[in-house]
Amino acid sequence: MQPATHVLVVSADEEWRAQVVQGLNAAAARLPNPFGLIAVGCPCDAASAAEAVLATGPTQADLQAVVIDHGPRGAGEQGAQAVLAAQRIIDLRPELSLYMVLEDDADKLLVEQLASNAVDGYFFRGEQDHTGWFRILAAEIAEKAETPFYDALKDYVAQAKDSWHTPGHAGGDSFRGSPWVGDFYDFVGEEMLRADLSVSVPELDSLLHPTGVIAQAQKRAAKAFGARATFFATNGTSTSNKVIFQTLLAPGDKLLLDRNCHKSVHHGVILSGARPVYLDSSVNRHYGIFGPVPKATLERAIAEHADAKVLILTSCTYDGLRYDLKPIIAMAHAAGIKVIVDEAWYGHARFHPELRPTALECGADYATQSTHKVLSAFSQASMIHVNDPGFDEHLFRENFNMHTSTSPQYTLIASLDVARRQAVMEGYRLLDRSLKFAFELREKINATGAFRVLELDDLLPEEVRGDGIRLDPTKLTIDISASGYSADELRAELIGRYNIQVEKNTHNTLTLLLTIGTTRSKVSRLFDAMLRLAKEKRPPRVYHRVPEAPRFTELACLPRDAFYEAGERLPLIDEQGQPNAALAGRICCDQIVPYPPGIPVLVPGQVIDPVIVSYLVRLLQTQKSIDLHGLALVDGELHLRVLKPEERAALPAR
Ligand SMILES: Cc1ncc(COP(=O)(O)O)c(C=O)c1O
Repeated sequence: MQPATHVLVVSADEEWRAQVVQGLNAAAARLPNPFGLIAVGCPCDAASAAEAVLATGPTQADLQAVVIDHGPRGAGEQGAQAVLAAQRIIDLRPELSLYMVLEDDADKLLVEQLASNAVDGYFFRGEQDHTGWFRILAAEIAEKAETPFYDALKDYVAQAKDSWHTPGHAGGDSFRGSPWVGDFYDFVGEEMLRADLSVSVPELDSLLHPTGVIAQAQKRAAKAFGARATFFATNGTSTSNKVIFQTLLAPGDKLLLDRNCHKSVHHGVILSGARPVYLDSSVNRHYGIFGPVPKATLERAIAEHADAKVLILTSCTYDGLRYDLKPIIAMAHAAGIKVIVDEAWYGHARFHPELRPTALECGADYATQSTHKVLSAFSQASMIHVNDPGFDEHLFRENFNMHTSTSPQYTLIASLDVARRQAVMEGYRLLDRSLKFAFELREKINATGAFRVLELDDLLPEEVRGDGIRLDPTKLTIDISASGYSADELRAELIGRYNIQVEKNTHNTLTLLLTIGTTRSKVSRLFDAMLRLAKEKRPPRVYHRVPEAPRFTELACLPRDAFYEAGERLPLIDEQGQPNAALAGRICCDQIVPYPPGIPVLVPGQVIDPVIVSYLVRLLQTQKSIDLHGLALVDGELHLRVLKPEERAALPAR
């Protein structure tokens, strides 16, 4: 399928505009035009320009570039309008290529001041060289659409080289024709197996020391996501978080973190040896949903711990709640604290104004994104974006390489290259479609009478109501409590009868994730299923909440110190079947995480109290669908690994 590419020509001068559009389209018809470039005109004022760049027509054409006429010399008001239009376009769609048409270089200074370095190039009004302009625009679009790593991978596979190197399946030859595993060859597909190559192929660069096609692909990603540098990670945001922690934090360095951060963040604390200051996040108890850390808590923590090196926050959260990051980051920076934002669930935000600003746009030093969660990259494919002015690339590289396999999966790297291309070239249109689907689903699901999609106001915990929190509408949380179904029953009905797999649930909600892969027919099938289930409404039921997570107690020592001791294992439940009282006051060596939601109840180094022990026992007894990660199994019984008294005595106190 060939793409169709629009170039918007913005000018107040109707005649000039028509000439340029005609000239560009004549060149497009005459010259090679692989991306189907078509010029269209637009009047020059900020409102019309904004409307034009936000339009998505049924033609499937994607706007890729904008040419703005600054007007003739001394254009005065017209020039000012043009600069405003440029600024508006940059604000709305930073991924678009922007060209200004000037009378002379005096105008250029003005434009540069206002539109900073976001302008990609200039044309001169007097030249009217439409063919030349077409060539430049076509080359610009071709460059943006390049996928250096994916292209090199495809070329190499097409050359059908004999493999005398890893991996052992040698391009799939060990599977092909096998009576035992030949079906895997067919299932995975020949190209996938041929593309499963290794660092033995120098033409494909090295993820651990990129200087060729991987470096080029990462550079394009950095431009697309608005970073100074971007790094591809093939073991998810889980690893990306650890890499940044080890880069920024030395043993003993202070770190501010939301206690509800993903467990990889807590693993990063252990690995780096950092001294954590845990911040309690808000919680919506009615729906069992964790929210952001209240702004007041952050303000206090930054003021009290100005010696902290790093603050890490999750934005947006799993449920789509996103911070008003700008003032928080400014506050942290004023205290000399670097800010990492875990954007595992927010990699798409750069490509739609409804979802922006991104963490980097708000000033974050680092952002980690699971490109695989919301864009088209393969599972495990993530990106680390860096804007830290003091970034130490050597140190980062050492840590990145410590965590990265020397045999990364090349199709993952290619998928990141392709996901970036897609996000830049058609992300806006696809996200716009997803947002419209989300809106439509909200209305339709609410109309069933039995289910209700929760709005920001429903989701917001009380503590953060005044904090400027917003909601990513592509995460749809449905209140099921009027339907009479339990969450488990509903999930079973949806998968069993309707082939619909949802993202997650709490005791009284279901969460659906809309992505750029959501289609009209999936929306229709989901609505049909919800409608039928609503008609079969069951008698009202009582929804039992998951027991409320206990509050943080205190850290007796650094998490890393507790983790690396051998410890001893004590049973969670005593011989009388009661929560083991002997655990009270002991220091936990592991991270204990009920999953879902994946938020630790205990971290290494934390003092255990009777409330926590009872909570864990109650969870095990009442919540069959929850896994408890971090418990040790001894003779079939669940145990907690705790410090021995002599280990505790020998450890430096916190
Ligand atoms: C907030 C957050 N950060 C990081 C991760 C880890 O991401 P990945 O699955 O890419 O390793 C997750 C995964 O669910 C997450 O929810």
